[in-house]
Amino acid sequence: MKEQLEAIQAEALERISQTEDMKELQDIKVAYLGKKGSLTGVLRGMGKLSKEERPVVGEIANKVREVITTAFDGKSEKLEMARLEQQLEAEAIDVTLPGRPVKVGGPHLLTSIVEELEDLFIGMGYEVREGPEVETDFFNFEALNLPKDHPARDMQDTFYITNELLLRTHTSPVQARTMREYKGEKPVKMICPGKVYRRDTDDATHSHQFTQIEGLYVDKNVRMSDLKGTLDTFAKKMFGEEREIRLRPSFFPFTEPSVEMDISCKVCNGAGCNVCKGTGWIEILGGGMVHPKVLEMGGYDPEVYSGFAFGMGPERIAMLKYGVNDIRQFYTNDIRFLKQYHKA
Ligand code: PHE
Repeated sequence: MKEQLEAIQAEALERISQTEDMKELQDIKVAYLGKKGSLTGVLRGMGKLSKEERPVVGEIANKVREVITTAFDGKSEKLEMARLEQQLEAEAIDVTLPGRPVKVGGPHLLTSIVEELEDLFIGMGYEVREGPEVETDFFNFEALNLPKDHPARDMQDTFYITNELLLRTHTSPVQARTMREYKGEKPVKMICPGKVYRRDTDDATHSHQFTQIEGLYVDKNVRMSDLKGTLDTFAKKMFGEEREIRLRPSFFPFTEPSVEMDISCKVCNGAGCNVCKGTGWIEILGGGMVHPKVLEMGGYDPEVYSGFAFGMGPERIAMLKYGVNDIRQFYTNDIRFLKQYHKA
């Protein structure tokens, strides 16, 4: 029996040393040490041995088991290490390879312009406010001195939802909303950027939906010269220090007097070209001194308070600043157009 055990040990060790495969190694272990393994088989036969022989053979058998187990464990560890090494090699990352560029988006040109304007006015002490795009007839018109049937309502072709509800045609209702919220108790200095809607046929210079930025400053002793200085600062910051402004008389029901502001054409520097249609000036915005009736309806005593207001179109500003020649470019989301204005 001793020889038999030694033969099993020699054979097992030989097979363990020969194999390079983990699965095969497992099979070898089972073949010798498993329930039906050859070593186990021999041990079962020990019952037939004499009392004296049993401990001797038992000891040898235990040794053999130990030797095979140790050999198995050693080999198993070796194979596992080799496998790991191979895997690490296969999965190695060459960190020196150039990376794949990731496409990143950027703010829409209009968003950038609005943010630039917000920064500019915040710097002059304005707060940024918002108002609803679905507006009441009252705030869009009546509170701005445009009673029902006022002919100036035709200046802005309106999308009505019901008799009293509409899509706001300008951001001016936010003037009225803010004054009412402040209850005539404190000065108002606000701008309001937002979308507005008009029944227009879309073409290169018209859109049924566009953007405006409203400005309102109400306090004691606000004068027309304050408006002029504010607009001059805006024009120079937005279009360059060399720009000059000019105010022309105009009409809006909610301002009196009303003005339209032009800036000197930056393409021809005032000499006249096709951008300014030969005049040397480009119209930028409308504004004026807040009409006493509008102050009153807003809860401000026109004997005590005065103010100015203005409204401008960021699309128009962007078009002039960047030479965009079709307003539809802002809404059709052609990435080739948009990405020209993404800052790196
Ligand atoms: N709401 C006017 C428009 O849309 C612009 C404006 C705003 C004029 C404020 C005067 C004062 O045409």
